[in-house]
Amino acid sequence: MKSYIIEGGRKLEGESYVSGSKNASLPIIAASILNGGVTKLYNVPNIHDTQKMLEILKKLGCKIKHNSGKIIIDSKNIKRWEIPEDLMRQMRSSVIIAGALIARFQKATFSYPGGCDIGSRPIDLHLKAFEKLGVNIEEEAGFIHCQSDKITSAEIQLDFPSVGATENSILAAIFADGETVIKNAAMEPEIVDLQKFLNRMGAKVTGAGTNIIKVQGVKRLKDVSYKIMPDRIEAGTLLCMCAATGGKMFLKDVKPDHLAPVLHKLEETGCKIEIKDTSIILEAPKKLKAVDIKTMPYPGFPTDMQSVFSAMLCFAKGTSIITENIFESRFKYMSELKRMGAKITIEGRTAVIKGGKRLSNATVSATDLRGGAALILAGLVARGKTKVENIGYILRGYENLDQKLNDLGAKIVIKEGE
Ligand code: EPZ
Repeated sequence: MKSYIIEGGRKLEGESYVSGSKNASLPIIAASILNGGVTKLYNVPNIHDTQKMLEILKKLGCKIKHNSGKIIIDSKNIKRWEIPEDLMRQMRSSVIIAGALIARFQKATFSYPGGCDIGSRPIDLHLKAFEKLGVNIEEEAGFIHCQSDKITSAEIQLDFPSVGATENSILAAIFADGETVIKNAAMEPEIVDLQKFLNRMGAKVTGAGTNIIKVQGVKRLKDVSYKIMPDRIEAGTLLCMCAATGGKMFLKDVKPDHLAPVLHKLEETGCKIEIKDTSIILEAPKKLKAVDIKTMPYPGFPTDMQSVFSAMLCFAKGTSIITENIFESRFKYMSELKRMGAKITIEGRTAVIKGGKRLSNATVSATDLRGGAALILAGLVARGKTKVENIGYILRGYENLDQKLNDLGAKIVIKEGE
């Protein structure tokens, strides 16, 4: 088990960058099987989750090549349409391949994705959307068998603007005759990136970024090259870490409008923010002010920023109220922050943070990807050495995070074993 050893009390200052978006890469890698040809992807972050997604494609029969930051996927010879159970369990977001398999082969088999550390993560909305498109679904011994004689276009009304269910609906409908309309669709920027990628292949998808997406079925898709958008959650994570340490940062190659709700809240804490087309400059105040956060579907405050932002608020002056509206148990990391002296009380989906205390270093353990990043932030500020264990969670979603932070003046080393 790997750990980070973080020497706290050092300001983060200087210039940094973000990697390609994990949450745009995963559906785009899945969608690459639709053209039965060659897909070249640039700016895919080299992290556990993208590696797992590529491993699944290989198991299905794709040929994958990597060279200097480019990934080449040849999906001509896919011979299987079941997602390997072990990989499904390792990464629940692999369910996104089902939509692409259904579109290409009119069938897919996969196991129920395990819940994870932030909630039960059901896929009922995905399955209801598939049924609307004419897919028969049979569940047997923990496996889901999808099969259709003909995928038919439909009007899909999502009960909740689920990101994954929106993406899976788009993929499954890509070759369906006629026009499929997805209502109450998620509006996240990663879905806009997926639409751009699909249309670059010759698909006809419109409306991504709004709550009504239309998919005009096409006959086939062509080879494509595509560059993945920058990771907005990594950008927000680095900005909060800089703010918490009282530093100043120039973050380049980002899309500031993807971060609007986070930048707005950072300004409320007293940070000075300067935005250019593809860069953000943040200067932290002497003392951060407490603010209240309510997570919402995009364009509201992103749930993936809840933990890191809350950790930062432990150092702000005053009391902050955090409401997590998306996942039912996304506060687990707070028990680890309390081991460092954070004053937090939790009532259901609401947490009250009494900020201003200096946290003390401790040995803490990551409980999930974004919760782990929150612990790193706390370790960057707390005096002395903090050990963050179980960093495998963090390596799933952040590429070279320790390197990026050390380049900004942090002192983090990775410790192997025990
Ligand atoms: C995506 O997960 C992201 N993952 C998550 O990021 C992100 O937190 C989430 O969207 C919300 O923005 C990827 O894109 C790979 P949802 P997804 O379906 O698609 C419920 C990270 O840290 N729901 O929008 O799984 C669900 O339980 C990860 O990078 C159903 O009830 O999220 C949750 O409460 C974590 N039935 C809510 O909707 C369904 O069929 C939002 O889930 C599907 C979802």
